[in-house]
Amino acid sequence: MVSAQAPTAAPIWTVSPADRSKVDYTHMPLWAYGVAERPHATDPQAVQRAPGAAPPAPIPPAEATRKRRVEGSSLTFTLPEIRGNVVDWFPDDHPNPMPSIIKQGPEALGSGTRPCGACHLSDGSGRPENSSPAGLPAKYILRQLDDFRNGRRHSVEPGKGNSNTMVMLAKAMTDEEMKQAADYFSAVKWRPHVKVIETDMVPATRIQGELFIPTANKATEHKLTEPIGNRIIEVPTDVDANQILRNSRGTWVAYVPVGAIARGKNLVTTGGSSIVNNQIVLGRATACTTCHGQDLRGMAPDIPPLAGRSPSYLAREIFDIQQGMRAGSYPLMPLMKKAIEKLTAEDIIDITAYLASLPVDGPAPVNLTLSQR
Ligand code: HEC
Ligand code: HEC
Repeated sequence: MVSAQAPTAAPIWTVSPADRSKVDYTHMPLWAYGVAERPHATDPQAVQRAPGAAPPAPIPPAEATRKRRVEGSSLTFTLPEIRGNVVDWFPDDHPNPMPSIIKQGPEALGSGTRPCGACHLSDGSGRPENSSPAGLPAKYILRQLDDFRNGRRHSVEPGKGNSNTMVMLAKAMTDEEMKQAADYFSAVKWRPHVKVIETDMVPATRIQGELFIPTANKATEHKLTEPIGNRIIEVPTDVDANQILRNSRGTWVAYVPVGAIARGKNLVTTGGSSIVNNQIVLGRATACTTCHGQDLRGMAPDIPPLAGRSPSYLAREIFDIQQGMRAGSYPLMPLMKKAIEKLTAEDIIDITAYLASLPVDGPAPVNLTLSQR
């Protein structure tokens, strides 16, 4: 182990180069990336907690000792125990003991690193601005870590510090650490965290840390005052619980345009094909169910589930794949890219609204496709 005084290994702050010169930002879903303005391919690449970055605001002494709680957990933590650590409100939600890679991060990076659980939370349930490794197939997780490590997976957004940090962490991980992380996250049962609401109006929000934060603390207090436009606005149901207390059972509300779920369902299940004058007119997409399963809960052994996951995350991945910044090693990847290549910005809203709204529990419909391979 590296002692707390040891200098941080340098590589974590060295962003690996990524060529974004071919990215067309014109139709980028800004809402999904939590940015207000279109980035440029040559913007500097950000990292999280870079040296020299402003430290977080100090915790007032009265707050530092106050024991905090979240609903459903009998545990208490103080803010200093929560901040910067992997806080474990619900130890029964994940395998035990928690491996060091999840709690402390890659050993090669010493004490100055960021552990997996810091961003993805203790059980990998994740947050809209990062991803949800919980319940993904282990083989798929390993492939993603390998793709990050080998420069095949980047965000189109150079300023997305958490994605760049993710790449650096993967580069620092040993194969054994990757295996431990994949086994751990894949063993967690996925539970949905997002409630999808169709609406014309959304609460006023500000962008903070690549997230939309409503001015009211709780969703029950939202005043819907702003037209939704061509956006999905995904916000914490309880700002304090999710943002400050890092509640791994925290939930989110995704406000989506009226009609999005039905339009999305059509694209996801048929690719948008229709019959006109007795002729099949092919749609803009390939039915996602072909590969991701009839229930969109993924296909063994290694095709990822899409049902009930964060629409912001799903939309970013679709755009990153469209733009070639995520071009993974998997042989089906070119077909996956083809399936989503022609989707418009509106289609991406509709599709991700529908996918996020899907149940992840209960009996799965029979998988009719690819299961006979
Ligand atoms: C600084 C925050 C941060 C930390 C710490 C972090 N990740 Fe990530 N991770 C991300 C972000 C952001 C993404 C999404 C990247 C993208 O596509 O833009 C991601 C994506 C992933 C994915 C892909 C999920 C999918 O559905 O394809 C896996 C797997 C993953 N991380 C595992 C890990 C592991 C294992 C660790 C610990 C070594 C870790 N992460 C630490 C931010 C983080
Ligand atoms: C030909 C099979 C195929 C079809 C059709 C397909 N996908 Fe995929 N998709 C894949 C594979 C394989 C992956 C995982 C790629 C990898 O390992 O990086 C994937 C990954 C994804 C991801 C990233 C998931 C994550 O956790 O990061 C999203 C989002 C996605 N697909 C959405 C869609 C949507 C939406 C459609 C339909 C419009 C669709 N896919 C159609 C095969 C397919």
